[in-house]
Parts: sequence; C-alpha cells; structure tokens
Amino acid sequence: MKRIKIKDLLAHGEVGAKVTVKGWIRTFRSNRFIALNDGSTINNLQAVVDFENTDEDLLKRLTTSAAVAIEGEVVESQGKGQSIEIVVEKIEILGDADPDEYPLQPKRHSLEFLREKAHLRPRTQVMSAVYRVRNALAYGIHKFFNEKGFLYMHTPIITGSDAEGAGEMFRVTNFDPLNPPKTEDGEVDYKEDFFGKAVNLSVSGQLEAEVGAMSMGEVYTFGPTFRAENSNTSRHLAEFWMIEPEMAFYDLDDNMDLAEEMIKYLIDFAMEQCPDDLKFLDQRYAQEQKGKPQNERSDLGLLERLDFVSKNDFERLTYTEAIEVLKRSKPFKKGKFKYDVDWGIDLQSEHERYLVEKEYKKPVILTDYPKDIKSFYMKQNDDGKTVRAMDVLFPGIGEIIGGSQREESYDKLLTRMNEMGVPQEELWWYLELRKFGTAPHSGFGLGFERIVLFVTGMGNIRDVIPFPRAPKSAEF
Ligand code: 4AD
Ligand code: MG
Repeated sequence: MKRIKIKDLLAHGEVGAKVTVKGWIRTFRSNRFIALNDGSTINNLQAVVDFENTDEDLLKRLTTSAAVAIEGEVVESQGKGQSIEIVVEKIEILGDADPDEYPLQPKRHSLEFLREKAHLRPRTQVMSAVYRVRNALAYGIHKFFNEKGFLYMHTPIITGSDAEGAGEMFRVTNFDPLNPPKTEDGEVDYKEDFFGKAVNLSVSGQLEAEVGAMSMGEVYTFGPTFRAENSNTSRHLAEFWMIEPEMAFYDLDDNMDLAEEMIKYLIDFAMEQCPDDLKFLDQRYAQEQKGKPQNERSDLGLLERLDFVSKNDFERLTYTEAIEVLKRSKPFKKGKFKYDVDWGIDLQSEHERYLVEKEYKKPVILTDYPKDIKSFYMKQNDDGKTVRAMDVLFPGIGEIIGGSQREESYDKLLTRMNEMGVPQEELWWYLELRKFGTAPHSGFGLGFERIVLFVTGMGNIRDVIPFPRAPKSAEF
C-alpha cells in the first residue's frame, strides 16, 4: 500500500479508506493511543492500537521517537481536536528508540538543552514548526522576486574582496597550517596558495550582484554568508543566510519601497502557508511573554504583530532626525541608555529598539547615516557628511535589513576607497562598472534568520537555523 503523508491524510482522508503511514511516535498513551508525526505538519495523527490482540513485546517497543510503519483504516475520531484517526491493523517497527537512552522526553525541554541535541530537536513541535516556517519564507523569497522579474544570481562564496570593509573574514586556504610557504620577509606566501592569492569566505554577495544589476537590471542573491565577528549575541551567527537584491535605476526611495513590499509579502505568505505552525508558535510566544517583566512584554501577540506589520506603513526618517528623537527621549534624559547618543555614533541596539518599540511602535526605516560609520560604496549626499544608506529596524530584533543607493560616480567612489583604505587593485572590476555605462542603482541585504526570528517569535537566532555556527560552537 502506498504511503500517505500525515498532512494529506488529515486534510483529505476519507473514512473507510485503508492507508499506510510512516513516522516517529510522539507519545504512546494507555497502551492504546499513538500520536504519530512524520514532519509534514505540526499535527499528529492518532493511531489506535488494539492492545488485547497485539503482541506484548511489540507494545513495549512503541516508545517516543521510535520509527514505525502503520497500516490501518481511517475512522472518525472520537477525541477532540482532530476529525479522523486510524485503527491500526498492522504495525512494523522500523527503528527502536530505547527510552532509557533517548534524550528527549515528551515534555517541554529548554531551548538551550535542545540546541545540544540539534540532530534530534526537529522531532519536537517547536523546532519542526520553526523549520517549516523557515522553508515557507525561503520559498516566498524566490516567489516574490520571480513574480517581479528579478533574476536569481549565484555569487561566489570564496572571494578575494571584503565587501563590507569590516575585515571580519574567514580565510580559505589549503596550505599545511604547520608549514605554509613563506616569503623572504617570513610572511605566509599566498601567491603559492591554491588561488594564487589570499581569499576568504564571502561576507556579502553585493559587489558581484552589482555586476548583475548593471547588465540584467534586477537581480537577487540568496546564499550563505560568513562573518568572523566575535559577537556572542542572540542576533548574530558566524554563518547566516542573506538575501541581496540589487537594482539598476532605483534610487533610495525605490529601494525602501521594495524592502517594505518584500517584508510584507513574506509575512503574508508565511501566514498563508503555515497557519497551524504559526498558531502553535503564537501560543508559545504568549507563554513566553508571561514569564517576562511587564516593561519587556510585547503589547501584541505574535499573530497580531505579524498582521500589524503587514498592514501598516513603516515609519521613515533620517538618522539625524532619529538622533534628535533619541535626545528628547525619557531614557536619554534619565540616563537610562547604556551608550551615549550623539550625532555620528553607530546606533546601539538599545537605541534602535527604543525608536521601534517605544517611539513609533512599528518598523522604522532610517536613512542618510554619517558616512564614517557606513561602507565605502554608499552614495554620498551633497552635504559631504552623510550617505544614502537605509537600515530597516524591527521590534524585538533591531536591524533586519541594511542597504543603500550605490555611489555611481567613478571619481567619488575612487576617492572614498582611498580615504577608507579599500584596495583598488582588488576591486578594479567594481570600479569599471562606474566607467562603462554607470547609472544610479541600489540594493539591500535582508538577514534571513532575522526575518525567521521575527515571524516565528523565537528569541534566539540559534533556534531558527538547523545547525548554528557561532564562536566556539560548530558541533553537528
Ligand atoms: O548590514 P549588512 O552588513 O549589509 C550588507 O552586508 C550589505 N552588503 C547588504 C547590501 O546592501 N546588499 O548585513 C545585512 C543584514 C543585516 O541587516 C542583518 O539582518 C544581517 O544581514 N546580518 C546578520 N545576521 C545574522 N548574523 C550576523 N552576524 C549578521 N550580520 C548581518
Ligand atoms: Mg548593517
């Protein structure tokens, strides 16, 4: 008999049909009721065992997380919460899970504990819900951009250029670490290395995406990104996924419009694709909020918040205006901010969150940052002080998107690169885009895990990627 997935069975199963299902046992109660899950949905299928006519040894092996194949007849469910269940006719154990050794119990485990069991945590409701929402968001990204006629572009993962100029990169080499070739000065001689030069894992596909935009018009990348920043926070990973659209003939306003439209589309798409998972995560979020101090609690539930963001315009203001707002704010006047506020500072997450959560109570797009705290490639404003940058700030998260209009003037870009010590020998090709048919263009980067955090209501970025990579942490 052909296997049917539990999601399809629960949605379309007809009473009286004979079916085969396969999955992992979530729970086995009263020697009679198996809650079976196969990962296709958060909902379990109830399979009712006729224990009087079932071998006792077999019954003992029906333990949490054992893999089984079950044949049975679909009947109307007696229990609440589900319309159908199956009466077991044949049950085969595909793989035992010895209850004395299996580390996860059918109860609530802490997320920290589950992180140490990354190979088993998708068997839990919460993690499987997160991974399904993650999948829907990834699909939604491709759908959104393809519907708009953007080309999906694969940019290199191994790169010789440091797009963000932050220098926090992972070196890629196949040298023997104990005995690398040396130059006469005693330095490692990367000319002898695999690529004939020093290369790193990419921190961003943007520079190459600009090549795409300046020929194909509108492109996007969606790939893994690596940063060796030593930030052990709930918002940072050493390996994360980023979506980077890059568009010819877009100015900063067009860029902001696209970013806002994309985020709203993604939220709506996840709500449409994963209603059951999000309902579960909404309840989990509500539970979590109860445990927090009053002033840290979110006013809205998870689903309410998603709906609110999808239906309301984001607030747009300049960095300079934001600094004024922060200086007028209560926490500033009362000295409650840990970091000082003054024009020129890089906003700290406490400042960003104040703007989003207290002042405007909705997502905020800040523009026109001081040029000295932003990358070399951003378009310079006429004031000589600021650049056409934009950051999208979200409740509970802070920065979710960073982007800008790009400097299209060859001379201005070259001058800025020299000022900031960005080597032009490495980026000669990037400069040439400004020499041959330059044009206004813009783009941004969305941190994929940060949007997954927002949509799932999870609190730590390590719980929204299957195998997190962070300082001192690369198990699995
Ligand atoms: O602001 P960032 O550094 O911008 C860029 O990389 C540009 N090249 C993007 C562009 O204009 N094409 O990073 C973009 C986003 C951030 O807003 C954040 O959401 C996410 O990437 N991000 C991280 N996410 C997880 N862990 C980290 N260590 C991250 N660093 C940045
Ligand atoms: Mg940024």
